Amino acid sequence: MQEFKPVMASVPGKARPIPYRLVPMDRELVPQIAELERQSFSLPWTEQMLYDELESLNSSCIVAVDGDRRVLGYASLTVAADEGYVNNIAVRRELRRQGLASDLLGVFLRFAQARKLAFLTLEVRPSNLAAIALYEKHGFRQVGRRKNYYDEPTEDAILMTRFFQPEEGAQ
Ligand SMILES: CC(C)(COP(=O)(O)OP(=O)(O)OC[C@H]1O[C@@H](n2cnc3c(N)ncnc32)[C@H](O)[C@@H]1OP(=O)(O)O)[C@@H](O)C(=O)NCCC(=O)NCCS
Repeated sequence: MQEFKPVMASVPGKARPIPYRLVPMDRELVPQIAELERQSFSLPWTEQMLYDELESLNSSCIVAVDGDRRVLGYASLTVAADEGYVNNIAVRRELRRQGLASDLLGVFLRFAQARKLAFLTLEVRPSNLAAIALYEKHGFRQVGRRKNYYDEPTEDAILMTRFFQPEEGAQ
């Protein structure tokens, strides 16, 4: 989790490796994560909601930061008994499609395997084709739908779940 990993920025004309590492969220990172939320979602989590996550015993946020502690992406997981719920995952717009979200999700997949969770599950907008493709690539399958789950705009939620067999290794 502390290891730096290279990722190529997709900023036109400025493609160069940007090393980053995955770290647990701390209070100092919260304002940047709230900004990323605002960039990514119509109903973003507030700073207060993120501080509450820090206090929660059942939740954990993992953050991709560069060498200057600039937040590049983040993801949030809540665990109840043997069930894992992926709350949020977001990557800075200019750094998408470089494998960052896959790295963040990979932390949760390995955690789920190590803790012998039965499954990881999440909700996603049907219009969010990028996220659906990301989850399908990591073994999540569409298992249900919640009618009018989202606001702004109103939209159903697709439920996606990755089940784990006791002997299965996470990817
Ligand atoms: C969804 C999101 C987190 C993906 O982050 P990312 O770092 O770009 O994802 P990755 O680079 O790890 O992509 C992994 C795979 O997901 C799929 N994928 C990701 N973005 C895609 C896109 N725009 N179109 C199609 N497939 C896409 C691809 O299969 C990709 O693998 P590939 O690049 O080898 O083809 C990012 O687009 C984002 O932050 N969106 C806004 C916030 C959001 O909607 N979060 C999800 C809420 S449910």
